[in-house]
This record gives sequence, C-alpha cells and structure tokens, in this order.
Amino acid sequence: MRILITGGTGFIGSAVIKHLSIFPHDLVLLTRGESRMELRGALTVKYVHWDPTANGIWERAVNGCDVVLNLVGKNVFEQRWNETVKRDILNSRIIPTTLLVEAIGKAEVKPKLLISASAVGYYGNRLDEMITESSSGGDDFLADVVKQWEGAAYQAEQFGVRVATPRIGLVLEKSGGMIGKMRLPFTLFAGGPIGTGKQFLPWIHIEDVVRGILYPMENEQFRSVYNLVSPYPVTMKEFAKAFGSVLHRPSWLPVPHIALDILYGEGANVILAGQKAYPEKLRASGYEFAYPELRSALENIMQ
Ligand SMILES: NC(=O)c1ccc[n+]([C@@H]2O[C@H](COP(=O)([O-])OP(=O)(O)OC[C@H]3O[C@@H](n4cnc5c(N)ncnc54)[C@H](OP(=O)(O)O)[C@@H]3O)[C@@H](O)[C@H]2O)c1
Repeated sequence: MRILITGGTGFIGSAVIKHLSIFPHDLVLLTRGESRMELRGALTVKYVHWDPTANGIWERAVNGCDVVLNLVGKNVFEQRWNETVKRDILNSRIIPTTLLVEAIGKAEVKPKLLISASAVGYYGNRLDEMITESSSGGDDFLADVVKQWEGAAYQAEQFGVRVATPRIGLVLEKSGGMIGKMRLPFTLFAGGPIGTGKQFLPWIHIEDVVRGILYPMENEQFRSVYNLVSPYPVTMKEFAKAFGSVLHRPSWLPVPHIALDILYGEGANVILAGQKAYPEKLRASGYEFAYPELRSALENIMQ
C-alpha cells in the first residue's frame, strides 16, 4: 500500500511510522522540514516538504496513494495559551486538513481512505458523565476546534473517500506526552494528582493508539468517528496513585490548579477537564486492546 502521512515526525506519527515500517508499504511523509529519503528497516521512507498553509507541488504526492493519514497539528501544551496561540492551535489543524482534502479532490487516482486525527477534547469538560461516540460535543474552545477539524476531514466524503476520525485520548508513552511531564516530579518524590484529582482521564497506551489509528485500514467497514481511549478510564487521583506505585514513589503532593494556570493559562483546562470516555465503537467492532488496564499499561511503559 502507498500511505501518505502528515505529522509523521511527531509524537504519535513517529510511533505509527515505526509500526508501519514492519510491513511492505510505501510511506510518503509530508513535513515542514526538508525533502529527503530515509531507510527504515528494509523500507525507504520519502519525506516531501510542504507548506501546510498553502497549495503547492506537494499536492502531487497525494495522487496514487491508497490511504492518507492526517496527524498534523500544533501541540496544545507547547506554550501558554493566548489569542495568538489559540489561533495557531486552530489553524494548524483546519488549514492543513482542508488543503489535504482539496489535494485529494484534485488527485486523478484518489485514496480510498482518509484517517484524520481528532481528540476527546470534542466532548469538553464532562465530570463523571459516561461519554460515548453518541454523546454531544462540548462548548469550550478545544471542543469547537475539534468540531471544525472533523468537519474539514469529512469534506473528503464528497470525493468518494471513506473517512475515519479517531478521537484520541491522553496518550501514555515513556518519554513524551503526559508521562513525559509527570515523570520528573514523581521521580523526585514530589508527584501527585493534578487539580482536584476527581476528573476522569481518557488515557490510552501508545501501542493501542497506533493500532487504533490504523484499524480502519484493516477493517473496510469501519468509518466515521470513534473514541480511541482505553475501556477503563480512571480519575486523576487513581492515575497518580498507580503511577507512583509503578515508580515506587509517593503520590500525595497534588499539583494545584493555579500552577497549571500559570504554565498554560486557558490550556490548563485540557488536563483539568475530565472525560469519562469509552471506546464503544471499537469494542462493538471486536477491537482487542493490547493494554486495556492502567496498571499493566504503566508497567509496560516504565519497564
Ligand atoms: N498526543 C496526544 O496525547 C494527543 C491526544 C489527542 C489528539 N492528538 C492529536 O493527534 C495528532 C498528533 O499528535 P502528536 O502528539 O503526535 O503531535 P505533535 O508531536 O505535537 O505534532 C505532530 C506534527 O504536526 C506538525 N506540526 C506541528 N506544529 C505545526 C504547525 N503549527 N503547523 C503545521 N504542522 C505542525 C509537525 O510535523 P512537521 O514538523 O514534520 O511538519 C509535528 O511533528 C495531533 O493532531 C493531535 O492534536 C494527540
């Protein structure tokens, strides 16, 4: 298969590429970096430079691809939110996705499938309400971003392309994401829950993120929105306790709301808001999680 990937240099994207490199696929990565070729195992990965804010010759790379995998977007924890950062968070998702769909429309040989990343942020702050794919959307900034982002991806359906948008939860991986941020304070015996600790974390192990993102490639009937979260969400307090226990460290020192406010401003809500989200569609379709439970997921990650 020929697979075109945006965001392939990122936290999730690089794990996806590593996984895909085992198979005899042709991989083409659109990146803001230099065009180049790279050997991954027995495979050659082709990097094609693109400007994700403008049409260009990069569009030719879409022609003849079987699958387009869209994992692009400015990291929401990169810096403290202000109006400019919020605009970048929105634009770095909507504009590249719209341009990608336009390129699909122009392609003579169109892909059969577009998998475009989405996020559980769609649901906003829901305390302990049970959330499935049929739950309504939230009304905060991130929820609005996600609605527009998914909307941009589903425009590809007009070209006969199957579209799937995994609403990804908080990804657990050894060196990045949430673990990357929490690891140091825990190691220094200063770890604990963030905020009240009562908010639910829709966590997911990196291996399940990769397999879950690629799931629509292996299941031709699978399409549309799906929650890519573990089947057992836990509260932040339970998460901190389990993390401390795996690291053999205490977990009693809470990180106060104000500390996150200082670091991220309005962006703190991404961690302080909870979603008790369930992967109903994946479960109904028979997907088997490699790491459904937190303890074994953390043990695997930290070993
Ligand atoms: N990580 C999570 O826990 C999580 C949770 C829910 C949803 N998601 C979503 O999943 C996707 C991948 O997440 P990730 O954590 O792997 O992301 P990431 O590592 O922060 O970034 C992904 C890639 O996006 C490109 N990018 C970054 N800033 C950009 C900008 N301002 N304009 C255009 N492109 C930009 C970069 O690729 P180049 O430098 O090669 O151009 C980068 O490698 C994102 O859309 C994210 O919102 C992630």
